[in-house]
Amino acid sequence: MNISKHNKEMRIAVLPGDGIGPEIMEQALKVTRAVCEKFGHNVVFKEGIVGAGAIDAVGDPYPAETHELCMQADAVLFGAIGHPKYDNDPNAKVRPEQGLLRMRKQLGLYGNIRPVMTFPSLIHKSPLRKELIEGADFVCIRELTGGMYFGRPQGRSEDGNTAYDTCVYTREEIERILHLAYKFAGQRRKKVTVVDKANVIATSRLWRQIAQELAPQYPDIETDYLFVDNAAMRIIQYPKSFDVLVTENLFGDILTDEASVITGSLGMLPSASIGIHTSLFEPIHGSYPQAAGKNIANPIAMILSAALMFEYGFNLLEEGAVIRNAVNASLEAGIVTEDIAEGGKAYKTNEVGDWITNFIKSQD
Ligand code: IPM
Ligand code: MN
Repeated sequence: MNISKHNKEMRIAVLPGDGIGPEIMEQALKVTRAVCEKFGHNVVFKEGIVGAGAIDAVGDPYPAETHELCMQADAVLFGAIGHPKYDNDPNAKVRPEQGLLRMRKQLGLYGNIRPVMTFPSLIHKSPLRKELIEGADFVCIRELTGGMYFGRPQGRSEDGNTAYDTCVYTREEIERILHLAYKFAGQRRKKVTVVDKANVIATSRLWRQIAQELAPQYPDIETDYLFVDNAAMRIIQYPKSFDVLVTENLFGDILTDEASVITGSLGMLPSASIGIHTSLFEPIHGSYPQAAGKNIANPIAMILSAALMFEYGFNLLEEGAVIRNAVNASLEAGIVTEDIAEGGKAYKTNEVGDWITNFIKSQD
């Protein structure tokens, strides 16, 4: 959607979630408020519960009121969900992650956009050699509401000794995500890499067939095909060879965690989920329960998720750029949390958030 200056209210559903979610969200809201003040947007935040906290409160990780709140909003800012008490309990009836999956499905968020970039001041943090990653800049587009995450049947045999999942994709689901990938590539370096396992898996063969059918509709864009195992290797070995990578749900989940290594910290990378209803913006990292309440988590992935919200959610590019500038300035000034401090002084979550907010306020 488009918000033109001074004349419309931006209604943002705020779902901090579990673990470090609330702490990093607080920083993103400060930054968002500062940007809205600067540009004269009227912003209204409405908070909802989700995840383990929502299970504790009402027995449901994605309650109907939270869904309604998201449906009524212009954008959703999401922190993280997950709690260790569920991770090692294979018999838990309800899990925080189910809330996230239902939210994605019910909001129709079929496209998850995960940009992978490097920050000059963090190049040395990556375990990969500088010359391999310097200048790497690509976008992973992960299909988010299909595949094995949602395919049925899923479960166990009666004796409990056999388990099964089902991977399902329809032509419609594959076409819409591929079109999204081409749209992104058209605005970038004009290359799409379709990642599948078409040598083994039937759904992957349908992906590849449909990609081959669609490619001629985009003659100015190069289409490349990679098997996922090979892609996993090339992401690390030749990250600069990618522009837009598009893939199914589970492959995308795995490859984007891998790709975050290029940036140097999982705490840096934001994502946007877009589709049928309200778009949602969230860090790619999880709820980091060990750090919850300690004021040490890196708020940058969450703050950059707010930047993506302005850019993709509201088509307000200048506002997004102001946030990116401020984040870069904080990195250059060394105002960073312990995950990227590397021997230097480690700042607290709220100190990083305050510094970035003040930087935005202080610029003309
Ligand atoms: C992600 C997460 C989720 C996923 C989990 C928490 C269900 O890993 O957003 O990448 O697998 O999609
Ligand atoms: Mn993941």
